[in-house]
Amino acid sequence: MEQSEEARFAAHAKELTGKMTLEEKTAMLHGVGLFRTAGVERLGIPPLKMSDGPMGVRQEFPDNSWEPVGLPDDYVTYLPCNSAVAATWNRELAYRTGKVLGEEARGRGKDVILAPGVNLKRSPLCGRNFEYMSEDPCLTKELAVPLIRGIQESDAAACVKHFAVNNQETERLQVDVQVGERALHELYLPAFRACARVSLCLMSAYEQLRGEFCSQSKYLLNQLLRREWGYRGVVISDWGAVHDTRLAAESGLDVEMSVETDFDHYHFAQPLIDAVKADRVPEYLLNQKVEHILVLMQKLHMLDGAQRKPGTYDTAAHRQAALETAQESVVLLKNEDNLLPLPKKGLKKLLVIGANAVRTHAPGGGSAEIKALYEITPLLGIRTVLGGNTDIRWVKGYCADTQPEQSGKNWQAESLKNTAQNVLKNVTDALRSKRETLREEAVKLAGEYEHVVVIGGLNHRQDTEGKDRTSMKLPYEQDELIAEVLKANPNAVIVLTGGSPVEMGRWAAQAKAVVWGWYAGLEGGRALAEVLFGDVNPSGKLPETFAKRLEDCPAHSIGEFPGGRTVSYKENIFVGYRHFDTASIEPQFCFGHGLSYTQFAYSEPKFQLTETERELTVNIRCMVTNTGDRAGKETVQLYVRDPECSVARSYKELRSFCKLALAPGESRTAEMSLSAADFSFYDTENHVFKAEPGEYQILIGSSSRDIRLKTSIDTEFTHCTAE
Ligand code: BGC
Repeated sequence: MEQSEEARFAAHAKELTGKMTLEEKTAMLHGVGLFRTAGVERLGIPPLKMSDGPMGVRQEFPDNSWEPVGLPDDYVTYLPCNSAVAATWNRELAYRTGKVLGEEARGRGKDVILAPGVNLKRSPLCGRNFEYMSEDPCLTKELAVPLIRGIQESDAAACVKHFAVNNQETERLQVDVQVGERALHELYLPAFRACARVSLCLMSAYEQLRGEFCSQSKYLLNQLLRREWGYRGVVISDWGAVHDTRLAAESGLDVEMSVETDFDHYHFAQPLIDAVKADRVPEYLLNQKVEHILVLMQKLHMLDGAQRKPGTYDTAAHRQAALETAQESVVLLKNEDNLLPLPKKGLKKLLVIGANAVRTHAPGGGSAEIKALYEITPLLGIRTVLGGNTDIRWVKGYCADTQPEQSGKNWQAESLKNTAQNVLKNVTDALRSKRETLREEAVKLAGEYEHVVVIGGLNHRQDTEGKDRTSMKLPYEQDELIAEVLKANPNAVIVLTGGSPVEMGRWAAQAKAVVWGWYAGLEGGRALAEVLFGDVNPSGKLPETFAKRLEDCPAHSIGEFPGGRTVSYKENIFVGYRHFDTASIEPQFCFGHGLSYTQFAYSEPKFQLTETERELTVNIRCMVTNTGDRAGKETVQLYVRDPECSVARSYKELRSFCKLALAPGESRTAEMSLSAADFSFYDTENHVFKAEPGEYQILIGSSSRDIRLKTSIDTEFTHCTAE
């Protein structure tokens, strides 16, 4: 049935394309506005309208300027960033996040929403890490696929990005990524491959992969994406990522977009028409591209007067979905003496310290910026949760430099010229003394209050498109502040919000309670407060390793970030916990870590192996019991270890997980299954994923380093799979 619909769409697309002039076809293949292509009115073909981005639908821009239109009605639901979604380890919440995004995209009249970002977090310093999910391909794809399905339920297309190896911002427009076959296939491609099965659009990246620009790469777009993976959707270039008309035309790219407003000069505009006329590019290549777009339009019910879902935005249901995702994204990193949750009833006085308690983050970060309907800051969230009877005092504690976050002109207009690293501003004496004054005030008060919460961390000056951080340290002398506050009041709760890890070594041992929040959407501050005061039992788990020091991180330990014109991924497959586990390096907080206000016991493991020469299946069950006195949620994580292999392997790899909600005293069965692919590595000689016969260990735990159940299985055959 689906086959025949696909065939019908393809036939209709061909027929329409046959009626079009060269100029009409070309106009569909490039931006004629910053976020749209041209339609062909006489044939009833509308333009394709796009919008960023990962955390909600971006505000409206005119066709030819990066100055926002400034509409009174383009405020939207600001959703938790992808790292926050990943920290929930909850496929249902990922789906609901996508559903909101898709409905809002349609509600705002868009056809394509430029999300999600599924690049791997190779370094903690990448400026766009907050837009990405994880350092692990399994977690990324398990959440990105339902998110995409959610988006596309509303007749809007997802556009998974940035294909591929977009793992840093420094020199992102040019940098040539040298990465080995194994790392490429085991780490950097699997999420894209899984997403390409469902996503109607895909955005090609700026970088070069082994000397070929990704947005005109025969290897990535023709060989892998179109031929091997059978992708039939639309490929859209990142904005300004195309460099050569003929190469791009011959590649699997369909639509060229850019940040420039000279639309006729785009490679896929007049230069493409000229190339076809001069026989440098055969016209059938253009036809194929146009047909991809026309099939997409039919799938989105954009042609022939089809009934299309109208979408909606800013609804109460959308805010509720954003709240629930934010609640499950908060990660309780440390909680000695059960310091948290803080008492709510009868709390007379509370001291809140820190600029992030009152900072709104929605309008920053680059193309992921959001014109939010509202944003509940942590302080507002705390006030909402505690009500008026608690005397809440807020002091700033630290301050940023005074430079404005963004210049009047939208940064994106200049984005093809500026790819430097974040340059740390010289701290002036005046700023230093201002910070000292703020710190002294906060530390003095901290000693006087029984209950103190510090809310610091990062903001979109550090977590931002176009720039990477140069350090993993907390900015603005926050380490000093936190260390001194903890000296004055050892019971101070430390809350950090941000999109990527920071070093905590200066004070982590002294802190009894440490909480991590993300850019968690318009209800983020409320969700955080609900966790702090126990209305919500935290269940977030880290989707990435929080290292003690930057030098411990794989790419940094070998000096391979951010590289120069070339960056070599010499750490190979040892990214994130794969490196920390294999090299036995103790992280500050490991991948998959996250505490709860209750406890969970694991028991009764059952492993059932079924193996034939052709197939391998392992069904796994175990019992999880909530042994505490609060309802809570636990993410059961399943790792596979291959102790003996013909190639070097990571100590263990995440292969499955499931999240269970448990009432106090309740037990539930976690059920997961593995196939041959879950035991395999990429065999670079034969270009297949291969699982060798022999012993494998299956490790089940509450984090990557809190393994509760273990077993070994023996397999007898070599299994080869496509992935
Ligand atoms: C970003 C993309 C974004 C596009 C359009 C580029 O700078 O890399 O992620 O979708 O701009 O705003």
